[in-house]
Amino acid sequence: MRISVIGCGYLGAVHAAAMASLGHEVVGIDVDQAKIDALNTGFASIYEPGLDELLQEGLKSGKLKFTTDFSEARGAKAHFIGVGTPQRKDGAGADLTYLNSALNSLLPYLSADDVVIGKSTVPVGTAQALSQQESFQATGATLAWNPEFLREGHAIADTVTPDRLVYGLPADPAQADLARKVMDEIYAAILDRQTPQIVTDYPTAELVKVSANAFLATKISFINAVAQVADAAGANVTELADAIGLDDRIGRKFLNAGVGFGGGCLPKDIRAFKARAAELGVTDVIDLMTTVDEINLHQRQSIIDQVKQLLPEVEGKKVAVLGLAFKPESDDLRDSPALDVATRLSDAGYQVVAIDPKAGDKAQQLYPGLVLAADWEDALADADVALLLTEWKQFTTAQPPQAKTGAVVIDGRNSLDRESWLAQGWAYQGVGRR
Ligand code: UDX
Repeated sequence: MRISVIGCGYLGAVHAAAMASLGHEVVGIDVDQAKIDALNTGFASIYEPGLDELLQEGLKSGKLKFTTDFSEARGAKAHFIGVGTPQRKDGAGADLTYLNSALNSLLPYLSADDVVIGKSTVPVGTAQALSQQESFQATGATLAWNPEFLREGHAIADTVTPDRLVYGLPADPAQADLARKVMDEIYAAILDRQTPQIVTDYPTAELVKVSANAFLATKISFINAVAQVADAAGANVTELADAIGLDDRIGRKFLNAGVGFGGGCLPKDIRAFKARAAELGVTDVIDLMTTVDEINLHQRQSIIDQVKQLLPEVEGKKVAVLGLAFKPESDDLRDSPALDVATRLSDAGYQVVAIDPKAGDKAQQLYPGLVLAADWEDALADADVALLLTEWKQFTTAQPPQAKTGAVVIDGRNSLDRESWLAQGWAYQGVGRR
């Protein structure tokens, strides 16, 4: 099938390449010329394992191309919208500017039997409102909402072998039938593997995505709240998580206590959920999400407070920050707890020296004052405190160098091998297992 994908960021670039790998003829469209130029060379400007290889495969086969020219969407039967919906600058709600402008740019090239398929995370009610816009209705095209659940670092596998496919269909039966058939055809290879499919309406599909992320965020904040009790009571939150995780109603995933969640999705999605609930006059979700957000931010503050407690004299004190990306296998720095802690400690006057396998240069572009270490030994040499803030495998498996007298490592992801750090003379502090 001929497909266009509007928006070529973390979501769209992966989706475009993945759809080409399923055999479709795909054009990816974005307003950012530099991004498009990079994608057309087969090297994305983001780090996502396997993406460059998939891009190169698609480009070589002739099934994949990228452009800034929206007219290239003409003739495609399905048009995916995968633009960002970041947090508004003036509040907690989602900023739909990119979504509206993507749709407006696409409108002139839509035909009556085309299906526009929204993948971006949006406040509930958005699809209904978009589908009712006069300018959209004039095209005769059909709108569907098909949320995306990919995780950065696993984006390709999550797109090609997802846990589930969710179709939010319009109320009109003929349009719903068309949208379903088009998506079934696009995802035929995925459906052949018995992937669960949930066919529903717009608001449910929109809310599925938002509530999935809200639940994951809640799970992380829950274990972090418990970690605070574990710290106060002398219990071990990791062993506790292992034990409660064995109950399959609970599950062990997303119960890793630490410096908390970040990234381009969870933080802004819980805030947008809160803002939308407020518009709808529903209060409990507001309270719940506020608490989840507060606990999450508390975790960052707690690491900063521990450093300040250990090093009350700021002058000449070196803090090694291990990890800057919001999670391993990603160079994404959006709302990264690690970057936040690193810059706040640097602002407080500590001599912060950071290291990250993929996100270092990007972090330095954002914060030119940030000092990057040449390597692992350089980062840790003479450090008074070391902070593990992103659990890159390179860090969790590396042998630590000999500690300076009195040096402490704070394991902000409970991922280090405590014994090997102790053996090198470091004092060890975890989260909820000090
Ligand atoms: C998330 C959702 O998982 C994905 O389904 C959705 O499509 C987009 O948002 P992503 O932002 O890529 O994906 O990251 P995720 O793996 O969910 O991790 C989010 C944050 O939570 C990271 O900062 C991670 O370090 C943190 N986290 C995760 C914890 O602090 N503890 C955990 O146990 C798990």
